[in-house]
Amino acid sequence: MKIAVIGTGYVGLVTGTCFSETGIQVMCVDIDIKKVEKLNNGIIPIYEPGLDVLFHRNVAEGRLKFTTNLAEGIKDAQVIFLALPTPPGEDGSADLKYILKVADDLGQIMEEYAVIVDKSTVPVGTAEKVSAAIAKNAKVDFDVVSNPEFLREGVAVEDFMKPDRVVVGTRSERAKKVMEKLYAPLVRQGNPVIFMDERSAEMTKYAANSFLAMKITFMNEIANLCELAGADVDNVRKGIGTDSRIGKRFLFAGIGYGGSCFPKDVQALAKTSEEYNYEFKVLKSVMEVNEAQKTKMIPLLKKHFNGDLKGKTIAVWGLSFKPYTDDIREAPALENINILLEEGAKVIAYDPEGMENVRNYVLGNKITYAHTPYAALDDAEALMIFTEWPQFRTPEFEKMALLMKSKVIFDGRNVYELDHMKELGFTYYSIGRETVNA
Ligand code: UDX
Repeated sequence: MKIAVIGTGYVGLVTGTCFSETGIQVMCVDIDIKKVEKLNNGIIPIYEPGLDVLFHRNVAEGRLKFTTNLAEGIKDAQVIFLALPTPPGEDGSADLKYILKVADDLGQIMEEYAVIVDKSTVPVGTAEKVSAAIAKNAKVDFDVVSNPEFLREGVAVEDFMKPDRVVVGTRSERAKKVMEKLYAPLVRQGNPVIFMDERSAEMTKYAANSFLAMKITFMNEIANLCELAGADVDNVRKGIGTDSRIGKRFLFAGIGYGGSCFPKDVQALAKTSEEYNYEFKVLKSVMEVNEAQKTKMIPLLKKHFNGDLKGKTIAVWGLSFKPYTDDIREAPALENINILLEEGAKVIAYDPEGMENVRNYVLGNKITYAHTPYAALDDAEALMIFTEWPQFRTPEFEKMALLMKSKVIFDGRNVYELDHMKELGFTYYSIGRETVNA
């Protein structure tokens, strides 16, 4: 079998690499000449654990190839994945210009039947639009299928190779057979390939991400209430997570969700609702609460310093939106740092993977970048934790105490135990729990 993947961004590259690992021929296509050149030279432009091993093996064995030429890329491909960006337009709806442009091109160059797969997260009705764009010029039969990805950054390879489920939206028996064969090696443990119509598959993706964003947001509101009512959100989490109807995962309160998916998808689903004149009230609250949650530690920090952050040195641990990724899109850390800078504070930050992106694309030299977590603490009057990288969980607290000007931690991810902090004498603010040694 031979497939093509159009777009070598995060999703496209993981999709192409992982499928090549199942032994099929994969041709990845991208218009970015520099990127394709890099990929052809064995350089992976993103950080994703486990991807390099698979990438190098399959490139070496000749199953994974890269080109800028669409016609060459799709030649003999039975399946053509569209993994193209769908950035939010000004009104929050997903912009389909990249996908529809490729669909248009495909119609002109396809020489035999192929299944075209929407892998990008796209609004309900997109499969029909893609189909129409191809059909304008197509001389051959084709089917357009919706096959949303459910990949978490940082564990995308594992999620791809062992999916909980695969959702495929198509009403064509011919396309169904092709997709069944393609995914067969990945669902051998018995996890299902769930077939449905295109619109339901498109909706499934938005419903899944919005539900998870809502789950987190619900816990964040419980946390806010715990702070007022003298309860501990960690205990509440354990208490409710053991109910199998609720489940243990995605119940961690913190300074809000970020990343390239949740904020965009919640916004896009709200926009879709509007288009159907339906007011999705829960989604609106989710967006509003999450926005406020991201900077909720700032007033506490200001209060701690009697309202004035001018000239204060604040250490920051964690810049990426979550651990195991260098992705800083919608990262709560950035919004907080901007406020700190506006207030006249000096920021020294450390992140194992995210510093390059922050320096190159967002903050430049407005902040100082430390080489180690400890180097960030030098003379700091407070430490703020925005990402729960494992190395922040069990640091040498004695060393921290010696380096810092004052032993104050604002923890946006609840990485430490309250009793431990009490014992060590740190002033410790966290989310949905008692403040210690204030
Ligand atoms: C998400 C979905 O999980 C994935 O299925 C989809 O296809 C893409 O979007 P991702 O954005 O990589 O994946 O990250 P995820 O691990 O889901 O975390 C999203 C955000 O929620 C992060 O900011 C994270 O810090 C936050 N989060 C997660 C919490 O605040 N609490 C939790 O309990 C879990």
